[in-house]
Amino acid sequence: MYDLLVLGGGVAGLSAAVRAAQHGKSVIVVTKDVLGASATQYAQGGVAAVLEPDVDTPDAHFDDTITAGVGLCDREAVQVLVREGPDRVRELIALGAEFDREGAGYALTREGGHSAPRILHAGGDATGAEVERALVAGVRETAAEIRERWFALAVLADKSSGRAAGIAALDPSGNAHEIEARHTIIATGGAGQCFAVTTNPTLSTGDGTAMALRAGVAVADVEFMQFHPTALHHPSMPRPLLSEALRGEGAVLRDEEGVAFMADEHPLADLAPRDVVARTSARRLVDRGLEHLWLDATTIPDFERRFPTIWRACTTIGLDPSKDWLPCAPAAHYVSGGVCTDLDGATSMPGLWACGETANSGVHGANRLASNSLLDGLVFGSRIVDAIEHGKDGPDPTGVLLDYPGREFSGFETIREVGDVARESIQQLMTSYAGVLRDRTSLRHALDVLNEMPWPRNPEVANLHRVSTALVQAALAREESRGTHTRLDFPEMSDAFVGRFFFNIDPEKPVFVPLHETVSA
Ligand code: SIN
Repeated sequence: MYDLLVLGGGVAGLSAAVRAAQHGKSVIVVTKDVLGASATQYAQGGVAAVLEPDVDTPDAHFDDTITAGVGLCDREAVQVLVREGPDRVRELIALGAEFDREGAGYALTREGGHSAPRILHAGGDATGAEVERALVAGVRETAAEIRERWFALAVLADKSSGRAAGIAALDPSGNAHEIEARHTIIATGGAGQCFAVTTNPTLSTGDGTAMALRAGVAVADVEFMQFHPTALHHPSMPRPLLSEALRGEGAVLRDEEGVAFMADEHPLADLAPRDVVARTSARRLVDRGLEHLWLDATTIPDFERRFPTIWRACTTIGLDPSKDWLPCAPAAHYVSGGVCTDLDGATSMPGLWACGETANSGVHGANRLASNSLLDGLVFGSRIVDAIEHGKDGPDPTGVLLDYPGREFSGFETIREVGDVARESIQQLMTSYAGVLRDRTSLRHALDVLNEMPWPRNPEVANLHRVSTALVQAALAREESRGTHTRLDFPEMSDAFVGRFFFNIDPEKPVFVPLHETVSA
């Protein structure tokens, strides 16, 4: 029996694992790939954190995060993020992460929705890779046990108390095992692979959220899949990202006539929050029957040195970013919702915790602010360990869980026939019918097709199916447009939907719960 089982190998899970091991806990890290292969390593832009509060302020970071989240952030969770974030970044630096420097301080850039340059980066545009490198080295230096290529199937529950007791998982040879732990953290990352066009690696299949949905754990806000406006338009998967930091350093989006169209759409033009840029781009693509737009980054000096990863991706396919406009289009990038937590990362199931993209800590609301995700993982991964250290065992009514009324049913999902389902059939369906622009007809079609499919035999595809179904159900129920959720048939934001669609209150459908007062204020 381990003190702590960490499921996932990205920034959130590994920062929790390192901290717990530093506290002398027995830790096991279980990851379905090898350590170091996670969505974290693909993060380009950086980590948003105010390290020098005289130049910029945590209050400004708070305001920008709340504005980007379009009414659905948990204000307390955002306070935690912006106030504790800088110390967590300093700890990461102490662990060995090296961020780019300029003069006597750190080089800072801007991205969409930020009112000041506050984004630290590493290796130019290889921030995630550097963060992952430092954390993997940190974990390897501890006594944590590491299981690579193990695939988690389910959360184990203690039969008498209902408390989480670890996980059931397949080893690399396909044999089933139970791994018992006093505390289990789900940190399995995102679900971009629900879509055919995504910046997420193949392993981002919503595993943690699917496990939570099956275990009766509270999940909410999964309709808020964020689409990154500037993925390189190219058949390779995942789509190479053209970081928002390019626009932070002067790049502009142009349409097929060369018009820099964002200037007419938002006061921040190309640095508007990501949902605004993605929606505007998607509308232009549909209205004009285009396959892609252009990102003009030709004004950026010394491109190759500042953005080496993007430079390589472009030059490999014959594009020179210092001369050529880069073809781009939106791609699924980050799910703002997920497994609901309180302010310490506790889920609705005692003994089960969640952090990182899998979790819904309330900091992202309806649209995550750029470069807040690595910070979210660092802050809430650490809070979980500190809470366990202080003897906490189950959730408090704080954060997103303040609004979760608990389960009111004892039913189970109707058992369906199991069969072979191609991952691509779900991905194509979701991209065609539940993408950036949605309406009742498209979502109804997606849900009907998902409901008619057998339950996928392959456990990873089954997770894609489970999360896609939840996403479409919530997107159908949310009859408004807000943040990253755009309904063509309900183009306006509505006061009737200032709240969350929770799963696992009712077995059949998501249930809407209005936000508590302090959040909606
Ligand atoms: C980017 O570099 O544009 C991505 C940053 C993020 O997703 O926060």
